[in-house]
Amino acid sequence: MTLTKELIDKIITVTSKAAISCNKFIGKNDKINADKAATDTMRNEINKLEINGEVVIGEGELDQAPMLYIGEKLGLGGNLTIDIAVDPLEGTNFVAKNLPGALSVISIAEKGNLFNAPETYMDKIAVSKNIPYDATDLDFPLEKNIRNIAESLNKDVKDITACLLDRPRHDKIIDKLKRMNVKMKLISDGDISGALMVTDKKYDVDIFLGIGGGPEGVLAASAIDAYGCKFQGRFLFDNDKDIARAQQMGIKDLKKKYNLKEIIKGDSIFCATGITTGDLVNGINIKDNKYITETLVTHKSSNMCKIVIREDTIKT
Ligand code: FBP
Repeated sequence: MTLTKELIDKIITVTSKAAISCNKFIGKNDKINADKAATDTMRNEINKLEINGEVVIGEGELDQAPMLYIGEKLGLGGNLTIDIAVDPLEGTNFVAKNLPGALSVISIAEKGNLFNAPETYMDKIAVSKNIPYDATDLDFPLEKNIRNIAESLNKDVKDITACLLDRPRHDKIIDKLKRMNVKMKLISDGDISGALMVTDKKYDVDIFLGIGGGPEGVLAASAIDAYGCKFQGRFLFDNDKDIARAQQMGIKDLKKKYNLKEIIKGDSIFCATGITTGDLVNGINIKDNKYITETLVTHKSSNMCKIVIREDTIKT
């Protein structure tokens, strides 16, 4: 096993430290500096690891540095060559406005196993593993997906919950769901958490759908893979720059629908540390001069899906 338990511990440290660095920006209405703190810390922490890492899903391109950009090389070097997807601060608004659900997120896989894509939007669908694989599809009409889910779960359509970002671009979907009397969970931001709601009955979400960030889609897919749930995504390249960049990266069919196994192959480690308390994990807590962090960790090959609590002494 290349992605070892020891490495999992180190990756938890990466997101925990990045999350802690945002703590002082909670409620300070300053998304830029919160994001910068998380990004700088994540970079510093990854650079302490004995890996040959490359960011394949990040925040923009080289010309938009200092964000962790696609193609950026990270780590001290060594025999382990890995692809890295990062979202140092998922939910910049949540931190700025002191709202629930901000996370620091990373996923790693062996070289070539994590989809390499520019930062664009993605049309997504995620459903729980209790629903037969063929019952839903990104290309099915919404009504068909909902009816098939209801039938598979032996539920009434009115008892199905669909989670999606509350955005004007989703007005038609929201309207259709309303007409079908489907229960909605409309989230203001944070669609990694939104997608992960299908992984456990306790969240009461049967389907996650709609258009959100592509990087967030790839990151969610890597955790969803460990839970054995279904995810499909289609990148949306709607301007000349994104189209040219996608082609440069080797994406030939710009309208391709990607199944989970095409987005993330083989083994992976996913870590999401809470900054402000949300549905998945608690946010940073300060007790006895220590930061207490909670991290949702998944490791595909060991079937690990758990929450890890860490303590980090506050240095004065
Ligand atoms: P940031 O943390 O980068 O602000 O992203 C928050 C987020 O809600 C993501 O979870 C989601 O994928 C994306 O923004 C949606 O983008 P938009 O706000 O443009 O609809």
